[in-house]
Amino acid sequence: MKPVVVAIDGPAGAGKSTVSRRLAQRLGFQYVDTGAMYRVIGVLAAERHIDPNDAEALERLCRETRISFRDDPEGRTHIYADGRDLSDAIRTPEAAQWASKVSAVPQVRAHLVAQQRALGDKGGVVMEGRDIGTVVFPDAMAKFFLDASPRERARRRAAELHREVSEAEIEQVAREIAERDTRDRNRAHAPLKPADDAVYVDTTDKSIDEVVQLLYDIVTARRAELATL
Ligand code: DC
Repeated sequence: MKPVVVAIDGPAGAGKSTVSRRLAQRLGFQYVDTGAMYRVIGVLAAERHIDPNDAEALERLCRETRISFRDDPEGRTHIYADGRDLSDAIRTPEAAQWASKVSAVPQVRAHLVAQQRALGDKGGVVMEGRDIGTVVFPDAMAKFFLDASPRERARRRAAELHREVSEAEIEQVAREIAERDTRDRNRAHAPLKPADDAVYVDTTDKSIDEVVQLLYDIVTARRAELATL
């Protein structure tokens, strides 16, 4: 039996994390946030003053670091590097930029893709990232590419700061995600792009519930279809 994988890709702020987590819950699947893995390598590289272009040092770092996930009693998934909880440290704007930089290095991708495939091979996973439908699981049972207007994506990221945000701050976030998107879309290895067979979903004017329902219906229809083959 092929493992059942739902692949969710898209740029920053398109709603991937919230939607993927909720969809996984509804399906009774495991949720895997691959961006968190690139963020861990980015944060550790910055801590150790490793140049994001130093492929050799980054490869060594990947080889020496054991990344693991564990859910706390409230159901929040924590990410650990050799047992150290980095769940909060990886959520800063700097960590996002470091992640985007180290993720362009093929050796880093090779290490993390292997770990992602091992997690997905158990089956019953919703995996979120930039290259899940194109590279990590090209045979995924269902593939989605979530997108939203740049302005809406910036507004959502700014809202995650959980305080009043000024227009100037939204502009700043918009610039940061535009910079990151350009890097993620234009890198030579596994750039961000929809798989040919991905369902493209523009989430700009949709609520989270609407998007989750849309994906859930498509996944369950696909499962029913496969069961009759
Ligand atoms: O999804 P995120 O914002 O946490 O991802 C952080 C960075 O990691 C993103 O800018 C690009 C990189 N990334 C990637 O290259 N491939 C993935 N599958 C997931 C994330």
